[in-house]
Parts: sequence; structure tokens; C-alpha cells
Amino acid sequence: MTNSVTSLELASWEAALPAHAAGDALDALEAGSVLFMPRLAFTLDPTEHRFLSPQWLEGTAKNVSFDPRHDQIAHTSANGEDRAQLAAMMARFARQARALVLGVCPQYGSALRDGLTSFRPVQTQGRATSPKKDDTRLHVDAFASRPNQGLRILRVFSNVNPAGEPRIWEIGEPFDAMAGRFAKRIPPQRPGSAWLLEKLHITKGRRSEYDHLMLGLHDTAKLDTDYQRTSARTRFEFPAQSTWMVFTDRVMHAALAGQFLLEQTFYLPVDAMRDAGRSPLRVLEKLFQRPLV
Ligand code: SIN
Ligand code: FE
Repeated sequence: MTNSVTSLELASWEAALPAHAAGDALDALEAGSVLFMPRLAFTLDPTEHRFLSPQWLEGTAKNVSFDPRHDQIAHTSANGEDRAQLAAMMARFARQARALVLGVCPQYGSALRDGLTSFRPVQTQGRATSPKKDDTRLHVDAFASRPNQGLRILRVFSNVNPAGEPRIWEIGEPFDAMAGRFAKRIPPQRPGSAWLLEKLHITKGRRSEYDHLMLGLHDTAKLDTDYQRTSARTRFEFPAQSTWMVFTDRVMHAALAGQFLLEQTFYLPVDAMRDAGRSPLRVLEKLFQRPLV
């Protein structure tokens, strides 16, 4: 069985790993390990420390978001110079996260696509939400409004907590076991529903059968209170000033506590993996015996 967390002694975002070390790390990552870099911190400039506050969130938003492809920040109350500086901080995180992934996984190369960057200044613990939005429950990531047609979701996280508080996660059972338990319980996609969701702009693009199943796994696991109470898990504390990366579409995870996090999402076509057989797409296609995108 795969270790749920694999440590990497990297201290620089741009360091190229020796080929054998990068190969081992890539293998662990694809097999469902969290790659944990205890000595790799995202450093804030002195003028950026003021951003470590929920005050910069707009309205009821939980995260400030940034789109590195269009250099656009959203869900923030910041204006003028503050807004520009907050965007610059998130842009720098996006660039460093990309350099990190390409240093560890050079073979992903030009196939690696930038998704959104998020800044999460709210305490995770005790945050009131609906059960499906409750990330303190074990789940794999799947986005209701952004179908991804089988692309992998790879995320880089940095804990920037200024008071030395860890981000506390639980890491659950392997994907194959979870999928074996829940996938056949998911009601089939209704004919025409994907078309309608797209037409009404509820989804950005067409929700494939794969997307339907991944959302189904996300929801079914979160809503199963027995599963949430009793399934196997490992608790792990990511210290302040540390960084980790993980395929969150495969690794069951829950964020129990922590405040002040930067996160970068990447998308990766399964064919760019060293072993595409380890993608949720191929695992589910094997289970259902048909193509799902
Ligand atoms: C999640 O992806 O479920 C939340 C991760 C976090 O905020 O630590
Ligand atoms: Fe998640």
C-alpha cells in the first residue's frame, strides 16, 4: 500500500531534483501519496503581511481567487493599490507552484494547464456550511460548475499561517476502495441533463459521465455519516511555512482546521501521466467497462 504522505527535502521552488529522486516523487504522487515539503515555505514580503486577514474577502466569499491566465483577481474587497498587491502576491504563488510541479514532474511539461489560485484566510474549523460543501468531511475533489472531462486535478498548497498554526488534514482510504464502495450507488446521469446544465450556464462546458460520477463520489462520501465516522484515515498536520502537493481527485482528504492557505490548481490530461492507469478516469472506466468521456 502507498504511504499517505511522502516527504521531500526541497527548500527552493525552482530546484531541479536529481532524476532518480524526481522519478520516485512522481511515482509516489501518481500512486496517491501527498508530497510534503516541510522546508519549502512561500515567503511573504513585509508589505504583504497585512493580507493575512479575512477582511480582504468580498461579502460571504470564503476564498480570494485569482486567474493566472488572465491576471485577474476576484472575490476580494481590496481596491486600488491593495488589490494590485494582493493580485501580485497570488500571481507569484501561481508561478512558484508551477515551477515546483515542473521541477518534480518534468515529464508533465507543456501538458500542465493552469487553473485558479486561491487564498483562504478563514479558519476552516467550525465554519458553517452545507454537508456537500463541508470540506471537513472526507472527499475527492470534483467541481460542480467546472466539468473537466477526465483531466486530473493537481493542487499545490502552502500554509502561510503567521502564528505557527498547522493545517490539519485527514487522508482517507485509497481511491479504488472508495470507488468500489460508492460508484455503483450513484444514480445514472439523466438524458439531456448535461445539455441543460450547460445551456443554463450552470456548468462551464458539458458535464461528462466521468464528471457526473466524480461529483457523485464526492457527494455520496460526504453525505454518508457512517462512512465519515468509521472509515480508515490518517491524521496529518502540515506545519506553518510548509508546502504540499497532491492529486485531490484521487486522494481522499478532509481539512479539519487551519487558517491562511495559498492553493494553486493545475489540470493534467491523463495521457501525460507516467501511469494513466492510476487516474480516476481509467479506474472508473475499468469498473464500468466503458469509456466515460
Ligand atoms: C479541500 O480541498 O478539501 C480543502 C483543503 C484545505 O483547505 O486545506
Ligand atoms: Fe477538497
